[in-house]
Amino acid sequence: MRSKQLDLGKYDTDKIRNSYLDRYDSVLEPWVNKEIILLELGVYKGGSLCLWRDYFPYGKIIGTDLKLPQNRDLGERISLFQGNQTDVGFLSGMSRQVAPEGFDIIIDDASHIGITTRITFWHLFDYHLKPGGLYVIEDWGTGYWSDWVDGRNFRKRLQLLAKAWQRIQSRWHFCNRLPIKLPIRSHDYGMVGFIKELVDEQGAADLTRKSNKGQPARNSKFACLLIKPSIVFIHKAL
Ligand SMILES: C[S@@+](CC[C@H](N)C(=O)[O-])C[C@H]1O[C@@H](n2cnc3c(N)ncnc32)[C@H](O)[C@@H]1O
Repeated sequence: MRSKQLDLGKYDTDKIRNSYLDRYDSVLEPWVNKEIILLELGVYKGGSLCLWRDYFPYGKIIGTDLKLPQNRDLGERISLFQGNQTDVGFLSGMSRQVAPEGFDIIIDDASHIGITTRITFWHLFDYHLKPGGLYVIEDWGTGYWSDWVDGRNFRKRLQLLAKAWQRIQSRWHFCNRLPIKLPIRSHDYGMVGFIKELVDEQGAADLTRKSNKGQPARNSKFACLLIKPSIVFIHKAL
């Protein structure tokens, strides 16, 4: 595990405070000793960029933020760009300059707002992530928080209805065959709603074949979608 080889105490980042590296380690392993280009959206003081620089000894590390830290000299192999993560012109200009062949790894640790994260994701994933590359989205669980800007906990009334229906189904099994489709509790907004959109993309082959006998119109753009607590990893298909 690469993080066990580093002196983690010297990096000022939530990734250490929240023990996120345990979730990252196994996923990042194939890239550790390669000459990768990594982009992180959301720099704050730059602590995570220093961590990634040391984590990937041959890596080129790029950070973007709405507002860059006062100390902009984070050492060799780190470059900073100021801009909004929803500004696709800015994202493309920066990407063409530093990673004309595409990024190997992109990490979104910026707004944690569903609509913003979604705009950034589809632009960078489609146009600026290499085939076989990795896209990471942090803190998707904000979508469950009632006090987050676009978060919301489950609606109580729907939950009660779903529970009552479950009880009926477990008692009278013929109910399972009735053409009644009660919603399973879900989100169609915020970060969790966006993650559900990623689940739909992972299921593209079934989604586009529409029925048991149909043929898929296309396969997923994702090789694999891995959802861990607080962090989602999306491997781009080759
Ligand atoms: C959680 S902090 C980043 C922490 C950093 N990655 C670390 O681990 O030390 C989030 C950062 O995202 C930036 N941010 C928020 N909304 C943004 C947006 N729409 N575009 C670009 N950056 C944004 C904020 O300015 C803030 O510095």
